[in-house]
Amino acid sequence: MPTYTRFAPGDLDALAHLLRQGFGIPRADLLRYRDLFGDGVFRMLRHDNRPAGCAAVWDMPQWFGGRPVPSRAVAVVTVEPAARGAGLGGALMADVLREAHAEGCALSVLYGATLPLYAKLGYARAGSAVTYGAAPAVLARGPADGLRRLDPLDADLLAALRLREARTGNGLAERGEAQWTLLLKPGDEQAADVYVADGPDGPEGYVAVRPPAERRLTVVDVCVHGLRAAHRVLGFLAGYRAQVDRVVWPGGPEDPLVHLAADTGVAIDGWEEWLARVVDVERALAARGYPAGVEGTLVLDVADPLLPHNHGRFRLTVAGGRGRVDRPSDGGQADVVLPVAALAPLYTGHLGASALRRIGVLHGSDAGIATADKLFAGPRPWLADRF
Ligand SMILES: CC(C)(COP(=O)(O)OP(=O)(O)OC[C@H]1O[C@@H](n2cnc3c(N)ncnc32)[C@H](O)[C@@H]1OP(=O)(O)O)[C@@H](O)C(=O)NCCC(=O)NCCS
Repeated sequence: MPTYTRFAPGDLDALAHLLRQGFGIPRADLLRYRDLFGDGVFRMLRHDNRPAGCAAVWDMPQWFGGRPVPSRAVAVVTVEPAARGAGLGGALMADVLREAHAEGCALSVLYGATLPLYAKLGYARAGSAVTYGAAPAVLARGPADGLRRLDPLDADLLAALRLREARTGNGLAERGEAQWTLLLKPGDEQAADVYVADGPDGPEGYVAVRPPAERRLTVVDVCVHGLRAAHRVLGFLAGYRAQVDRVVWPGGPEDPLVHLAADTGVAIDGWEEWLARVVDVERALAARGYPAGVEGTLVLDVADPLLPHNHGRFRLTVAGGRGRVDRPSDGGQADVVLPVAALAPLYTGHLGASALRRIGVLHGSDAGIATADKLFAGPRPWLADRF
């Protein structure tokens, strides 16, 4: 039987080997991650008394419907190449999920390099992470003005702007200090410069750019509130037009820079979907917010062969933007019947109940589907972070 443990300092060589073979991560990068995040993020899987796999996990509030939901992020899931295909990856991830539940998480989220491993365990596509690209001249006409270089870095100022956005969207995660550092100062050559748009009542947006390279400008993070901040950021990016042929930036499906660019020609240069898994149905349904002015009751019949506490019926009663959850007795009809994997996109707002029924992964009465569509309606979910 494989055993799942927290990382101990004696595991360092094994972890370095797994990350090099799994992701080509050099030891120096691992040491930097270890300095930033601490040993507490790493997990090891041992088999036949040898380290056979690893993962990194950390908690982040992820916002849905205007409320933070405790979510566990998972990255660098790796099994020793000589031991693959024997079920160790599945065993490792099942323990990651059991541990996340025991420690109070409601959701788990990851970017999967492969889907089948995670789909078997109840993860499903649940949100996007888009990379937009455009020639700089497309973005704005006229001179750039009004941005202030933020030096030294003030992560609290940036986090406050991002939090304002998270409260009105779906999926955005709060970053801790280590995440801000890794994003903006991953190393001297990759370090980003941050510029802030000030308004009469304080900062209204920011943009973080790496130095232009090979006629390309990479925005590592951007957040704007309102027309004035968006136009200033667009003007700032267009100011690179003598130096670069393309500006690329990360965004969501409702990106303000795309909508406000001065000309046609913005394209999607990259599009990824992150996977989510509901780790605790009751906690997840009670933690998120729901659309203002919407009321309703929905009985969900969830199938979860891995985590027994998620299996069965849950009654969600929504009023005043909040949800209350209880466990009804098994008599009577459920409004919607679904495997836990289908609950993830419904919960995040990635796919509505009607769309999930159309593709055959959720069933229910017409009235039940209509209620579910209404309760989980909202902006399309996205994440500004890649991991
Ligand atoms: C992905 C990985 C962790 C799977 O580990 P594993 O021990 O081989 O996985 P399991 O034996 O438990 O297999 C579970 C499912 O994963 C998938 N899988 C197995 N080996 C895989 C491989 N080499 N590549 C991609 N997917 C694989 C299969 O769908 C399998 O289901 P099946 O047995 O019904 O076909 C392992 O291949 C690995 O370390 N890859 C390199 C790093 C990586 O890409 N990690 C994923 C990051 S998100």
